[in-house]
Amino acid sequence: MHTIRQRFTVTYDFPVIFTRNAFDTGNPVLADVVRQGGRPHNRALVVVDSEVAGQNPTLLEQISRFGDGQSPLLEFVAPPVVIRGGEICKHEPVEVQQIHSLVERHNLCRHSFIIAIGGGAVLDVAGYAAATAHRGIRLIRLPTTVLAQNDAGVGVKNGVNAFGRKNFLGTFAPPFAVINDFQFLATLPERDLRAGIAEAVKVALIRDRSFFDTLYADRAGLARFAQPSMEQMIIRCAELHLQHIGTGGDPFESGSSRPLDFGHWAAHKLEELVKGEIRHGEAVAIGIALDSLYSRHRGLLSELELHRILTLLEELGFALYHPALAWLDVGKALREFQEHLGGELSIPLLKGIGRKIEAHEIDIPLMKRCINHLAERAVRKLDPPNRELDPLKTLEK
Ligand SMILES: NC(=O)c1ccc[n+]([C@@H]2O[C@H](COP(=O)([O-])OP(=O)(O)OC[C@H]3O[C@@H](n4cnc5c(N)ncnc54)[C@H](O)[C@@H]3O)[C@@H](O)[C@H]2O)c1
Ligand SMILES: [Zn+2]
Repeated sequence: MHTIRQRFTVTYDFPVIFTRNAFDTGNPVLADVVRQGGRPHNRALVVVDSEVAGQNPTLLEQISRFGDGQSPLLEFVAPPVVIRGGEICKHEPVEVQQIHSLVERHNLCRHSFIIAIGGGAVLDVAGYAAATAHRGIRLIRLPTTVLAQNDAGVGVKNGVNAFGRKNFLGTFAPPFAVINDFQFLATLPERDLRAGIAEAVKVALIRDRSFFDTLYADRAGLARFAQPSMEQMIIRCAELHLQHIGTGGDPFESGSSRPLDFGHWAAHKLEELVKGEIRHGEAVAIGIALDSLYSRHRGLLSELELHRILTLLEELGFALYHPALAWLDVGKALREFQEHLGGELSIPLLKGIGRKIEAHEIDIPLMKRCINHLAERAVRKLDPPNRELDPLKTLEK
């Protein structure tokens, strides 16, 4: 027998830049990023989320004009390509194929760029297409939702859905750069503004107690989406995600645990059950509430800590229950979560606010009781005026 051991290290280094109006002709951010690639002439394909293009009627023209002004450093090989925004683009193979065929048609090479502008779903699709064409074209992401700016768009993964399973296909592929342009958030509906805050609550709970305290203290500002509150929340949340990826020791998740996925086993299942009717962040808020309750029942959280977590989520405007939870097969959902990660079951739980532990066994009847608890809490939260309309109550009067 003869063995040759192969070992090498690859260092990744990419900037996450916060700016406003990245495609204003006077904004140097994108050109500076491209210049860091070290080549005098760079070819790029721009991919835009259909909803972002629809909400900003002059954007496509502005991008083309911006491109005209960047020659010879940057050349856009075609007018921006608009692809369907939202989860639909991850469900169907159309968009991935479209990007691959444009890469082929315009002879993009591995030194070229794909510049993806959109929500987490569009970034995942463009990222998957970029990572698989020629085994990897450079990707610059411009996330346009809160969730994409503070979480989905700053990490090292991409993914598309297949066989009805979320992110069944995907790769680990760090971006060349991320440009978080706050101006894009101006057209985001309230539902999506709110959904992204769930990831900030999540990362605060598992990594940073003082960030949780800040979110709790600023919950009124966040609930009305006040600009300074939102921007500070996004920057700190992105920073904590990046710190975790950079220093957590397992950027490509080769282990069985996924600490950043606190609250996510139930969230992913819920998203599958209701087939895109619920935003990822809305499902995550429910998942956080559920795993916090479970942590409390395991004696890992105090009653006051649980109260603060649920209060924060509710005052931010999240519903902490969805009727589809009644159909959730907890055992099957946990098995599928384990299968996706490989290895033993590992579910992050809270040990106080700001610290997490990994649980390798889950008490399924207890988890079901926690789901029932959330259902009862949701009923109790019904508006008092609505209760007055309760026919039985009216009869009692
Ligand atoms: N790769 C990762 O590491 C990672 C991490 C977390 C989540 N994700 C994925 O991200 C996706 C969720 O991302 P999301 O929350 O950004 O949702 P999304 O991409 O589905 O966007 C939500 C909706 O908002 C629209 N939109 C986007 N930007 C807009 C803007 N500025 N103005 C108006 N409308 C706009 C989209 O077209 C879509 O209809 C999920 O598919 C999830 O699996 C990926
Ligand atoms: Zn998430």
